[in-house]
Amino acid sequence: MNILLLGSGGREHAIARALSGDPSVSTLVIAPGNPGMAALGDLVAVDVLDGRAVADLAASRGIDLVVVGPEAPLVAGVADAVRSRGIAVFGPSAAAARLEGSKAFAKDVMAAAHVPTAAARVCSTEAEAEAALAEFGPPHVVKDDGLAAGKGVVVTDSREEALAHARACLGKPGGAVVIEEFLDGPEVSLFCLCDGHVAVPLQPAQDFKRAYDGGQGPNTGGMGAYSPLPWAPDDLAEDVLARVAQPVVDEMARRGTPFVGLLYCGLALTSRGLRVVEFNVRFGDPETQCVLARLVTPLAGLLRDAACGDLGGAVLAWSESSAVTVVLAAAGYPGAPRTGDPVRGLREAEATDGAYVVHAGTEERPDGSIVSAGGRVLATVGIGPSVPEARDAAYAALRKINLEGAHFRGDIAADVHSSC
Ligand code: AMP
Ligand code: GLY
Repeated sequence: MNILLLGSGGREHAIARALSGDPSVSTLVIAPGNPGMAALGDLVAVDVLDGRAVADLAASRGIDLVVVGPEAPLVAGVADAVRSRGIAVFGPSAAAARLEGSKAFAKDVMAAAHVPTAAARVCSTEAEAEAALAEFGPPHVVKDDGLAAGKGVVVTDSREEALAHARACLGKPGGAVVIEEFLDGPEVSLFCLCDGHVAVPLQPAQDFKRAYDGGQGPNTGGMGAYSPLPWAPDDLAEDVLARVAQPVVDEMARRGTPFVGLLYCGLALTSRGLRVVEFNVRFGDPETQCVLARLVTPLAGLLRDAACGDLGGAVLAWSESSAVTVVLAAAGYPGAPRTGDPVRGLREAEATDGAYVVHAGTEERPDGSIVSAGGRVLATVGIGPSVPEARDAAYAALRKINLEGAHFRGDIAADVHSSC
């Protein structure tokens, strides 16, 4: 199988690792990729938001399956452009990608499919936002309706801060803001492969969204993750499949916009039961680095079966090992990150027992050196017989890497019971 993978982050590096280890993959083209992925496939420069350019590239390279990593090309309709050329795509149409692209749309689908989620008000004026804040009370949860790379959500006890974020969201062209009830309890990410009709869950992971230890600081795209979750109920994946993923897939099919690709169910296990926090329409980053590290079933066949409507009956095999990933972020992240600083110690980190490095915001200079080029610069992945052993390996590797001003959380997977 010839595969074209779109994206350049840690998630795509992890996907490329899994695909390149799959004997059914003969060619892996990656656009645009990152320096860490160069050894895994052919890196090609293309504008991943340009559906026609992506379809042209896929056709010219004899691609059998396009795998879309990030959300932006999906929301922009790149999967539609490729599919209309008769090439299989793992990734939803623009219409189905609205599950991530618009929080208001996701709430509407959940209501129609009777999926448990936080009560919410979609507001288009400041007066509506004020009324919704008063209705739910603190802690306030204020979300940009549109895409914001995991950074559009403010959770705060301060009414002023909540209102300021609401104003900022409303100030964007066509802006709307979603204000919702606060959900307590640990968060879990569960990815489901979907073929338009059938959903198949992967294993749950936990992401650490806040920038600093102890769940302090602003929300980020994710600072670390681990899987499996030793504390989670054994039937969690089945429960989420039955109560969340399959009803959503059924509802999307009923609306004539079947969901093909990865449905990321962001969940809170609250004192009142399971609730959906959000949907994403692609693999999560950095959870993918942990989840795919443990998947034994070859990935390419699964993604192709999802793209072709053939997932029915899929049974997945998993490693007994645990995986922990820790993100190294540039100075300034999640605000404006500092870039262009040398990243040292990569080889030493790679040599760590039970660990490896996944690149994200890195760039290779003509002299072969690696410099930082984004907010989340890289992550280490540790694998071990238990979460603590995997954690030790991930941190041992991370501590060998030197990037001036960089920061990372020291408490990823440290307390495998608590919220993150
Ligand atoms: P979202 O972009 O909707 O995933 O939100 C990002 C993060 O904000 C989530 O992972 C949670 O940590 C937090 N969050 C979002 N919605 C809620 C909520 N209703 N209650 C508590 N925390 C929330
Ligand atoms: N780790 C959160 C996300 O991928 O959105």
